Amino acid sequence: MEPLLATRIDSFWAQACSFFGSKEVRHLVGSDLQPRLLGRVLSRVGLPRPTEDLLHIIPSETTELERRFLFAYSAILWSGRHPALEIGPFLGGTTRALALGMRANPERRPGAQLFTFDRFMRYHTQDSLKTQVLPLIERGVLPASVLGGLGAQASFREIFEMLHETTTYAEDLVVSEGWLADSREKERTLRSAFAPPPGLRFDLVFVDGCKSWYGTKMFLRKLAPALVPGASLIFQDYAWHTCYWIPAFVHALRDHLRLVAHIDATYAFELVETFDPDRVEAILPDSIQAWNGEAVSTLFAQIIDLANERGDLDARVIHCLQEVAALLDLGDATTARERARHIASGRWSSKSAASIVAAFRRWRI
Ligand SMILES: C[S@@+](CC[C@H](N)C(=O)[O-])C[C@H]1O[C@@H](n2cnc3c(N)ncnc32)[C@H](O)[C@@H]1O
Repeated sequence: MEPLLATRIDSFWAQACSFFGSKEVRHLVGSDLQPRLLGRVLSRVGLPRPTEDLLHIIPSETTELERRFLFAYSAILWSGRHPALEIGPFLGGTTRALALGMRANPERRPGAQLFTFDRFMRYHTQDSLKTQVLPLIERGVLPASVLGGLGAQASFREIFEMLHETTTYAEDLVVSEGWLADSREKERTLRSAFAPPPGLRFDLVFVDGCKSWYGTKMFLRKLAPALVPGASLIFQDYAWHTCYWIPAFVHALRDHLRLVAHIDATYAFELVETFDPDRVEAILPDSIQAWNGEAVSTLFAQIIDLANERGDLDARVIHCLQEVAALLDLGDATTARERARHIASGRWSSKSAASIVAAFRRWRI
């Protein structure tokens, strides 16, 4: 069992986060500025050293600020009344941040658990999974024998279990295999399709496993009936340059979702009005291939305008890159190159320039 952690966030930080998340502050600074301010505050709460260390041990594709954001969000802004759901934990860096935060939430009701779903295989090659796990073996966190169990599919369920089973929050975790399909045809033949547990409704959802357009549609369709009004939906890939489908679906659901806070690529929304599976079916086609370049550009022009309106320059650049990614997937390389040239001619912050260089290298444009 890991050392028992300070189970409460210092009241100064808790009050600061509640204050910056309040209606009064929204009124004062506007709904454009509040999400940025709140994201900053949530991701910079002072934490006791052992908690801080635990948040950053597990290899993760999230930034330290994003994990601190998830911790503080679930400790302070989550109502504690309903369970939470995560899709795509990988080895559980984000699972730990959420679970520790939930435990630190004074409003948490007994039995309000964290349900986490992943396909637990075929995300990395065996070699790259080994590279990620080796530092944990060297530090004595995992036994070397785990390397033998990865199999040809680079399965990581056993490693996930080992990393969390002896923690203080282990009893709050419900771990399940759950697959999202890349297309409707594939969904019909999925063996362990993602499905929220029957009879439960969630008010905190963290999304980091929606790695395709259709996968996102399938996830939202299945999730819709399992959400309570006012639930928080936190999308890790909202501002990640390849994942254009996340802002596309969020934008298509804009009458239902209000931006609450953001840090780095992670954006949290409040469900201001519930939606049903039929609505998810209707808002966007099953595949971006049903569209043409003009439809993609119209959608991203709207998403980019919203980022501009809230002065979110980092997201603005990422959405421009997402438009290029969408056009490339659509096979419209000419318009994609034209857009890329336009991006390259701009003057950007060093953070945005780094995203642009990484994206262009990836796409070889
Ligand atoms: C970016 S990683 C998640 C990283 C993690 N949240 C962290 O702490 O860094 C994405 C995860 O989504 C999962 N995933 C990808 N595609 C999936 C699918 N179609 N169905 C279920 N899980 C999937 C992968 O197995 C992987 O664990």
